[in-house]
Amino acid sequence: MLSPLLLAAARSERMRGLVTSMPLTRGVVDRFVAGDDLGAALGAVRELGRDGLDVTLDHLGEHTREPAQAAATRDAYLRMFEALDAGGLAGGADASVKLSALGQALPGELALDHARDICAAAGRAGMTVTLDMEDHTTVDSTLETLGKLRADFPWVGVAVQAMLRRSESDLRDLAGHGSRVRLVKGAYAEPASVAFQGRREVDRAYVRGLRLLMRGDGYPMVASHDPRIIEIASALAAGRPPASYEFQMLYGIRAAEQRRLAEAHRMRVYVPYGADWYGYFMRRLAERPANLVFFLRSFVSR
Ligand code: FDA
Repeated sequence: MLSPLLLAAARSERMRGLVTSMPLTRGVVDRFVAGDDLGAALGAVRELGRDGLDVTLDHLGEHTREPAQAAATRDAYLRMFEALDAGGLAGGADASVKLSALGQALPGELALDHARDICAAAGRAGMTVTLDMEDHTTVDSTLETLGKLRADFPWVGVAVQAMLRRSESDLRDLAGHGSRVRLVKGAYAEPASVAFQGRREVDRAYVRGLRLLMRGDGYPMVASHDPRIIEIASALAAGRPPASYEFQMLYGIRAAEQRRLAEAHRMRVYVPYGADWYGYFMRRLAERPANLVFFLRSFVSR
């Protein structure tokens, strides 16, 4: 019941104003977001690195309607690459990019052009880039952009959402040599016409996707906190060389498990940072009603 409401709130400007103006929200946000600025993100990267964890950094922001804002997002990524490179933190690191933050909804090829600049700079720093997947209306455009980017930067990866009915067919196209695919369950409210609605159905679709990726000769990125999924993925990966797949989890979620997995597998943590945390934060609340209770309790306990 709560999840659809929270996901609807994630798109509401009124709710954004309300939630972001509450002074006590910050303490809860900090559980999921590394900080408002690049300095805080670098601190998190160093700390995770000390525990043998790789990172993918996300400069928070989405649904940009202003070309100037899209350019500012691109520039934030370019600064991130410079800082990681200068700090000796770029090797093996990845950047997660939302095309909607680069102007995907704006006319022309603005998002593609910005993404190209981002990929070129990431490549110079020795990093990779993964395109996040947003709501189902953006999937065709994101996969089209991926194809264009991969012509010049074959290491660009993409997230695929198991909950979408189309994803199995997308995964068949994407599981080939050299591809990097991050399999996720899906974090957006989607209609039944395009997405499985029940947890079990989504989990089963995830496992089918996992089998496809693990059988293929691409680089599967298993992005889930679900213990059952992790167990199945570990079993499916048993025949693969250790450097041919990885696990991924979100910053602040199951941190001990992240460290445990890093002992036997490559483990990457998705580290979001920046002031525009609202949409990201609301999706984390929607994933787990207990987070909402924790959030509300922070008001009552003051
Ligand atoms: P599930 O939701 O079943 O959770 C399993 C268990 O994990 C829970 O019981 C709980 O213990 C823990 N857990 C999960 N979410 C939690 C939370 N918010 N707070 C506390 N505990 C939690 N989605 C998308 O649509 N596009 C994308 O590009 C990405 N990118 C992405 C990158 C990475 C690295 C990850 C890990 C996830 C994403 N996602 C995403 C989000 C994804 O679609 C999904 O919403 C979440 O990962 C939650 O699903 P799980 O697979 O963890 O399982």
